[in-house]
Amino acid sequence: MHIDVVTLFPSMVDAPLSESIVGRARSSGLLALGFSNPRDFGEDRHRTVDDKPYGGGTGMLLMAEPVYKALKEVKKKGSFVILLTPKGRKFDQPMASGLAKKKHLIFICGHYEGIDERVNDLADLEMSIGDYVLTGGEPAAVVVIDAVTRLLPGVLKKEDATVNETFSMGLLEAPHYTRPGVWRKKKVPEALMSGNHKLISKWRHDAALALTGKKRPDLLKRLQR
Ligand SMILES: C[S@@+](CC[C@H](N)C(=O)[O-])C[C@H]1O[C@@H](n2cnc3c(N)ncnc32)[C@H](O)[C@@H]1O
Repeated sequence: MHIDVVTLFPSMVDAPLSESIVGRARSSGLLALGFSNPRDFGEDRHRTVDDKPYGGGTGMLLMAEPVYKALKEVKKKGSFVILLTPKGRKFDQPMASGLAKKKHLIFICGHYEGIDERVNDLADLEMSIGDYVLTGGEPAAVVVIDAVTRLLPGVLKKEDATVNETFSMGLLEAPHYTRPGVWRKKKVPEALMSGNHKLISKWRHDAALALTGKKRPDLLKRLQR
């Protein structure tokens, strides 16, 4: 997959996505991550990209033209453009699965007070990562790119790992344990130590249902609909 990020601060996205699983996906070519910086398209000698909002108010807004030009630099036929904004559709696992099937994603990150509203029409989707306000779209881009990358074929050793996990089946995943079998007087559930695959699978299913009922009853209600 190819992903480009339109951002004034590429290293805020590049650095966290250079480690661990996503870093390896990049090194092996499963993910090609590029950047386009509106600053390179600022029109005056200071390469200014922001200005005061019409009508007054605090903070500065990114101007439409440098963002438009930075987007144009990387956009191709078939690109899917996502504008990161707290006003967008809330990101979730089904959205991650949908995005993992696309060939080319472009994320536009706002900063300061946001971006001139007129760029909204350039996006296929306005997306939020939750009901809170970040200083910029960069951490949001990292979150979404991480969630999408781990779904790409070949990125995780066992693709199975993404099939049964939390949210994929509409439930929270059952608890996991590793050695030792008893840790500070706390025992691993016997079924998991039994070696009986049928028993283990039933235990996991029941535990996932119980955990979801306890921690996220809203998910169970959605399944029952
Ligand atoms: C300080 S925010 C702007 C908030 C804007 N003034 C408002 O009240 O809606 C600056 C940028 O951070 C990004 N951002 C902030 N919160 C976000 C969230 N929850 N999800 C996605 N992007 C977010 C957006 O790109 C936004 O343009």
